[in-house]
Amino acid sequence: MKILVTGASGFIGSFIATEGVCRGYDVYAGIRSTSSRKYLPEGIHTVELSLGDKERLKSELSTLGRFDYIIHNAGVTKCNRKTDFDRVNCGYTRNFVEALIESDTVPQKFLFVSSMAAFGPGDPKTLEPVRLSDTPNPDTLYGISKLKAEEFIMSQKDFPYLLLRPTGVYGPREKDYFVFLKTVNNHLEPAMGTKKQHLTFVYVTDLVNAMYLALESQFLRKAWFVSDGREYDNREYAAIVKKHLNRRALYLPVPLFLVKAISCMLDTVGGWFGVSPTLNRDKYRIMRATNWKCEVEPLQRDLGFVAEYDLDKGIEACVEWYRKEKWL
Ligand SMILES: NC(=O)c1ccc[n+]([C@@H]2O[C@H](COP(=O)([O-])OP(=O)(O)OC[C@H]3O[C@@H](n4cnc5c(N)ncnc54)[C@H](OP(=O)(O)O)[C@@H]3O)[C@@H](O)[C@H]2O)c1
Repeated sequence: MKILVTGASGFIGSFIATEGVCRGYDVYAGIRSTSSRKYLPEGIHTVELSLGDKERLKSELSTLGRFDYIIHNAGVTKCNRKTDFDRVNCGYTRNFVEALIESDTVPQKFLFVSSMAAFGPGDPKTLEPVRLSDTPNPDTLYGISKLKAEEFIMSQKDFPYLLLRPTGVYGPREKDYFVFLKTVNNHLEPAMGTKKQHLTFVYVTDLVNAMYLALESQFLRKAWFVSDGREYDNREYAAIVKKHLNRRALYLPVPLFLVKAISCMLDTVGGWFGVSPTLNRDKYRIMRATNWKCEVEPLQRDLGFVAEYDLDKGIEACVEWYRKEKWL
């Protein structure tokens, strides 16, 4: 089976490519000329895809021939030009789908890596999880761009899509949650205000397993949320991090107005220097939300998904990796 993975150079993409090799797929890693190849596994093909130029992409896809499966994972989660969310997450997805249709290379299944952010957080009062039947209500530019991409894909007649909407994904090589680990390692435990936050997570290899379960299932034109099936509050998360780092840390609830001000400032300064800060206006909206619970039962029921890692086991594995690689 021939599989194409876009964004294969990134955190999640490199795990998707590695798992594809382990499962015996003929893996094509869609990357850019500037992409790092550091974490790409041996035994795969690397291909540069012009996701931003539909006509060139059509000819590239014709040359490559039809894939059995495609995982469209390339995307931006933060950027210094806010229009990039729409340009890349929605625009490139649209180009890709249209190029596949117009070059007659539509695969058996096209799995789009969306995000829970496409639906936005759940109700902070009822604390009900976000459900597949809910009306999406994204409150970030990132979430809006993912929702637009989903809507475009779903609007294509007979297009063989699958959508996965992961919650926060963590694991070795991840750089955003890592900032919190590094801060705790330096004996500080910052918190977004004083309100309890209800969080969900999924360890990267569990998410990747869900992707292959979806591709190898009989389902088509279907969407699922992905989390490890458990819920954690922010203090529990911090306690697990402290336990595995073997650190005491000063609990520091930062008032939301201050986090917002810092986010705006970092966004502005990042814009001047062309960098995308981990803390920015969009991330502030994600981080201030108090209900990130999502419905994972359909994934468990339909695909038999069982997460191998809960947060305790996952953070332990991360700390071990960050230490081994001298990130900590
Ligand atoms: N991490 C999470 O918590 C999370 C949660 C839900 C959903 N997701 C989704 O999962 C996917 C992968 O995220 P990640 O966390 O692995 O992020 P990442 O490490 O930043 O990887 C992003 C990948 O997309 C590629 N990419 C970015 N901009 C591109 C562009 N303009 N043209 C072509 N390729 C481009 C990157 O290529 P380069 O290496 O060349 O930059 C990289 O391979 C994204 O679609 C994201 O929205 C992530």
